[in-house]
Amino acid sequence: MKIEGSIALVTGANRGLGKALVSALLAAGAAKVYAAARDERKVPAYSSRVVPLALDTTKPEQIAAAVKKANDVTLLINNAGLATSQNVLTMSQAEVDADFRTNVHGTLAVIKAFLPVLERAPGGATVVNVLSLAALASFPILGGYSASKAAAYSITQALRPELKAKNIDVLAVLAGPIDTDMVKALQMPKTMPAETAKGLLAGIERGEEEIFPDPMAREMAALWNKSHKEFERAFASF
Ligand SMILES: NC(=O)c1ccc[n+]([C@@H]2O[C@H](COP(=O)([O-])OP(=O)(O)OC[C@H]3O[C@@H](n4cnc5c(N)ncnc54)[C@H](OP(=O)(O)O)[C@@H]3O)[C@@H](O)[C@H]2O)c1
Repeated sequence: MKIEGSIALVTGANRGLGKALVSALLAAGAAKVYAAARDERKVPAYSSRVVPLALDTTKPEQIAAAVKKANDVTLLINNAGLATSQNVLTMSQAEVDADFRTNVHGTLAVIKAFLPVLERAPGGATVVNVLSLAALASFPILGGYSASKAAAYSITQALRPELKAKNIDVLAVLAGPIDTDMVKALQMPKTMPAETAKGLLAGIERGEEEIFPDPMAREMAALWNKSHKEFERAFASF
């Protein structure tokens, strides 16, 4: 899909990758960007093409209100995410539930609610789920989070044939570490959000079902293609 002229909605648009995605969409010529955030007052005033929107993806009434307001979306980017649950042996039930509520159930609920809007999009629509390399193999120091992203990846795959019939493409973003609040405690090489956002939009334009948006993701994708087992071991060694 072409970003130019598209009408995008980005969840979790107030900071981190979501914020960078709004800027990148504007730079690439999106006609309008709904910048959705739990607190829409935290969405920076970018341009008249940006429409702040209140949206906690775990709240059905807010999702329904967002669908009413953003009834012309052609590109839905499910970026909102949480990484609360870490080691699978020590994480609490509440922590893993929180990650699944946002990363899995919230993402699916937003997609389902926006289907009537996306089906009306002239020339077809695109849904982009921001996942992680951790969807492909567990990153044990974030084991609960990894499980939630793997579940979201499985749902992404399940949606593809269903939505293809409605002229809606479903893309997965398998990103490497990004320099945002989410992983500020982790010491490792990270890509700046603006670079990841740019790579992500390039992947959308190319219509890639699996987008590896940053250099580390592309390097790891090569290892994954070579050997799933080696990929798993590489992640386990962090
Ligand atoms: N950082 C990484 O290394 C990395 C790597 C691969 C993939 N990702 C993925 O990239 C996406 C963006 O993450 P990030 O790195 O930008 O993290 P971040 O800086 O922590 O930002 C997360 C964003 O998601 C929002 N959010 C969380 N739960 C939400 C909910 N229930 N409803 C609506 N918004 C919610 C947050 O809103 P509040 O400000 O209200 O909390 C915030 O805007 C996530 O899906 C993440 O899993 C990140």
